Order: sequence, then C-alpha cells, then structure tokens
Amino acid sequence: MSSFHVPLKRTVDDSYDIQIGRNLFDDLVQDLLNGLTPKASRYALITDSNVEKLYAKDLHQKLTEAGLKTDLFVMAAGETNKTRETKISLEDQMLEAGFGRDSAVIALGGGVVSDLGGFLAGTFGRGIPFINYSTTLLSAADASVGGKTAVDTPHATNLIGLFNQPAKVYLDIECWKTLPVREIRSGLAETVKHACLADSELFEWLELNINSICSGEVADLDDAACEHIAYKNCEVKYTVVKKDEKESNLRQVLNLGHTAGRAFETLCGYTYTHGECVAIGMVVQIEIAFDRGLVTEDERNRTIALLKKCGLPVSVPEGTSLENLVIKMRTDKKARSGKIRFVLQDGIGAMKSFEGGSYSIPLDEEYILTILKKMM
Ligand SMILES: NC(=O)c1ccc[n+]([C@@H]2O[C@H](COP(=O)([O-])OP(=O)(O)OC[C@H]3O[C@@H](n4cnc5c(N)ncnc54)[C@H](O)[C@@H]3O)[C@@H](O)[C@H]2O)c1
Repeated sequence: MSSFHVPLKRTVDDSYDIQIGRNLFDDLVQDLLNGLTPKASRYALITDSNVEKLYAKDLHQKLTEAGLKTDLFVMAAGETNKTRETKISLEDQMLEAGFGRDSAVIALGGGVVSDLGGFLAGTFGRGIPFINYSTTLLSAADASVGGKTAVDTPHATNLIGLFNQPAKVYLDIECWKTLPVREIRSGLAETVKHACLADSELFEWLELNINSICSGEVADLDDAACEHIAYKNCEVKYTVVKKDEKESNLRQVLNLGHTAGRAFETLCGYTYTHGECVAIGMVVQIEIAFDRGLVTEDERNRTIALLKKCGLPVSVPEGTSLENLVIKMRTDKKARSGKIRFVLQDGIGAMKSFEGGSYSIPLDEEYILTILKKMM
C-alpha cells in the first residue's frame, strides 16, 4: 500500500473595494475596461424581473457600447425564487450561451440577486469572479458586503452556499429612490441591528434622524442621511468581517436578531420581508437580553421604539405557532449539537461575549418559549 501527502498551502488575498455613491454604471464600465476582472472576456449580467426594467437594460447597453461582451440573465424577483432551481436554470442558460471559465458575473439588484449570483459565480466553472452592484438599502447595509452567498431551501434560509468574496461592490444610493417604502424600512432593520451590535453613536443618530430617511409611510431619503447610513453600515460590517471572515466566532454577532428572525421568515412563507423578520428577531433577542440582565429596561424600550419609528413590526404576529417558531430555530446556522444558540446585545452598541469567549450561547427551547409567550 502507498500513500501520498499532497502539500497544498493557500495564500489568499480576497481584498476588494466598496464604492458608495450615485449613478455608478460609468464607474463600473471604466473599472472593467481597466482590468477589474482581468481574466474575464465575457460578462453574465444577472438581475431580477423588477430591476431589469428599472436599471439592467441601461447597464447592459452601457457595457455593450463599451465593447464588453455581456449577456443579460433575468430571474423572477422575490425571496421565493432564491432557490437551487433558479440557480440551475441560470447556469443552464449561461452554458447554453457558451459561457465558460473566462467569464465573470455582475449581480445587479438586492440581496436576493447578490446571494444567488455570488453563489452561482462560486461554482460556475469551479469559480469565476463576480461583482455586486447593489440597488437596495438592505443589500447596501448587509447582503452585498461580506462574501456570504447562498440560496434558500424549503427547510431553511441561506444554508446552502459559499463564502465567496466579490471583486468589487458598488452601492448605488440613487437606486433607493425607486424602492417601495416597505423595502426602505426593511433595510433600516439591518441598520438598527448594526447600531445595536457595534455603534451606540449610530443608534443615537438614528433616534434623532430616522425621519429624514423614512417616516412611517413615506420615504424622505435625505441625501446626506442616506450617505451617512450607507457608510456606517459598511464600517460596522467590514470591521467584523475582516477579523473573522468565515464566522468561526466573532462574525456571529452580525447574526443579531437572526435566530428568531430567520426562523420566522421561513415559517411565514416569506410573506414578511427579510428586514421585517430581522426586526421581530431583534425584539426577541432584546427580551432575552433584558431577562438575563444584559440590557436595561430603558435600553430595551429605546430599541423597540426605534424599530417602531422605522415602521417595522415589533412583535411576533398573532396566529404564529410559537412552538413551531422554536422548532424552526433549530435550523439556524449557529445551532450546534441540536442546541439553539443566540447572540445577545450587551447594552446598546456592544455584544455579549460568553464563557469561553464565544459570542453565542445555547438556550433551552422551553426558556425561549417562555420568553416568546411573555412577549405576546
Ligand atoms: N449574504 C448576506 O450576508 C446577507 C445579509 C443580509 C441579507 N441577505 C439576504 O438578502 C435578501 C434580502 O435583500 P433585499 O431586501 O435587497 O431583497 P431583494 O433582492 O428581494 O429586493 C427587494 C425587492 O426590491 C426590488 N428591487 C431591488 N432594487 C430595487 C430598486 N432600486 N427599486 C425598486 N425595486 C427594487 C426587488 O426586485 C425585490 O422585489 C435575503 O435573501 C437575505 O437572506 C444576505
């Protein structure tokens, strides 16, 4: 019998730039002409059916006019289409059109498109580069930055995917102007999450200025305020990601509100937006943090009040089976050995590090259920 040792050490530099601004199509075209994806000679512009009409045709035209060979691929909009089936369909279309390893993906849209497009790029031809061009507040705040890519399955959200870093991210704030107000509020949920977990100044700023971005039913989208939150969201996210890209511990904090939030998202059949589910999950975690003496009553009330001011839901909707909600939490990616784990705030702007240095703590299902019942 023989055996071989295969010495393969990896040295990887996955650094990339995030450009925040308005109307960035020309910058993207110029970057590609300047060799942003040097090995690519063909581009798959992937978008969804809403963004196609609003922006993709324009970008497609600009890329083509610049001599960059680009094909447009459109998936049906919405979370229910962030599936393995959609990925397969797009892959087949790309193969049929003759795409190979000398290509790159441009994911133009919100978090659904960047999650699916980034995952597809990571497996197509065993990996081709991709670029995120973000058109929603939620994806600017969270989804397009950080390199987590995935699809949903009937069992759970985002469990099938890859860590795959983009070549560059463009956050186009001008695109927020065409977002329905519900999607603005959804993005604000991730913004409040970032403030709660890492930035008490941002939290106070949001308390004072939220109306200049979105006051209840109306999105005001003040230019300076939008730029401020776009920048601050990136700052919080990449500060965490650069310390723990693969979520071995610290990156779990970005999951604040997501244990219950994601469980509710699948349980409700995606009838609530991602941000609305995160808002509900944020309230669940702060009730637990309050119960364990990690936040004061005032801090809990201020957090709930801020989410309310953003027009977000702050309780588990009536009619939801709390038992099923807890069962769904078992599919959360932080769960270990069948135990549901939560990350919890430590006051406003900091996260609790538990015994052994872990940022997540296992909690009994009965205990979680008691907290949920109290909330109702
Ligand atoms: N990878 C990560 O780290 C990460 C983090 C947070 C969230 N996510 C994922 O992000 C997704 C949510 O992102 P999202 O809220 O951007 O969802 P989305 O991509 O579904 O966009 C929301 C809606 O807005 C439409 N839209 C997009 N841009 C528009 C524009 N400029 N004007 C008008 N309509 C526009 C879309 O067609 C869609 O109907 C979820 O799938 C979530 O799991 C991923």
